[in-house]
Amino acid sequence: MKKDLLSVYELDLSDFEKIFAKAGRLKKALKQGRPHTLLKGKTLGMIFDKSSTRTRISFEVGMYQLGGIALFLNSRDTQIGRGEIIADSARMMSRYLNGIMIRTYAQASVEDFARYASIPVINGLTDLLHPCQILSDLFTIIEKKGSYEGLKIAYIGDGNNIANTWIEAAARLPFELALACPEGYDPDTHIMAKGIKESKDGINIYRDPLTAAKNADILYTDVWASMGQEAEQEERKEIFKNYQINKNVLKEAKKDAIVMHCLPAHRGEEITADVIDGPHSVVIDQAENRLHVQKAILEILL
Ligand code: CP
Ligand code: NVA
Repeated sequence: MKKDLLSVYELDLSDFEKIFAKAGRLKKALKQGRPHTLLKGKTLGMIFDKSSTRTRISFEVGMYQLGGIALFLNSRDTQIGRGEIIADSARMMSRYLNGIMIRTYAQASVEDFARYASIPVINGLTDLLHPCQILSDLFTIIEKKGSYEGLKIAYIGDGNNIANTWIEAAARLPFELALACPEGYDPDTHIMAKGIKESKDGINIYRDPLTAAKNADILYTDVWASMGQEAEQEERKEIFKNYQINKNVLKEAKKDAIVMHCLPAHRGEEITADVIDGPHSVVIDQAENRLHVQKAILEILL
């Protein structure tokens, strides 16, 4: 694997397989109470420009379980928030830390950080991508379905960081991806073009959620307004109202389809309560797996 994890597009099949195999071993060790302090004495810095529950907890607890520690660095409380430049922050932090996880707005900021840092940099979500999420979602799919190979994944909602990352994953792995997004809210054009060209099993974008959901093995959605888009929340509720995972959409999918959401969820908006809390939903297992997959990434990179 490369020094950093900035996107899933940079991974090859063996990288994906290595992460999933390691996550499986680490999950088993944890469940059986076997110590796995593989990162003893190591320190991860975690820079957050946006809120987080799962990402923060999974990286922080993950480092602890691996025998290391994690530092929560809210950029408001560091000199980064007062304008210290990325080049200086990255070079200097590389002398203290063994790895850095960053959650911020611009993908370019994470890439700049990685360029100047001599230690691994992990993308913990940007406006463009959320690689750690989709890696753990794929791990959950392997657990639930045996493999992602040949499956149809339907993503319904905003063409945001989660949708973009699904497209990058579909460019690398053999599964079919169907997206349904309202006009004007499609995924990133550049990522979409690369994905369509490179995907083996096909990536299609529809305006009709029922068409996207037809015969799907996995139904996936995310919030209509991402972090940083709070001002558009009300306007988006109107635009996205037909892009909801509800029982009609679920009916179009396969009988044994699973329903996924990266969380946090808004019941009654992108997904109804009966579906997210119903028998097809795997969202809590999905959230748990962030821990095991983050640990695998940390162990490989650090
Ligand atoms: N899914 C996810 O990344 O959750 P948080 O925003 O809580 O970290
Ligand atoms: N698209 C969401 C994902 C949160 C995990 C956001 O960026 O806010």
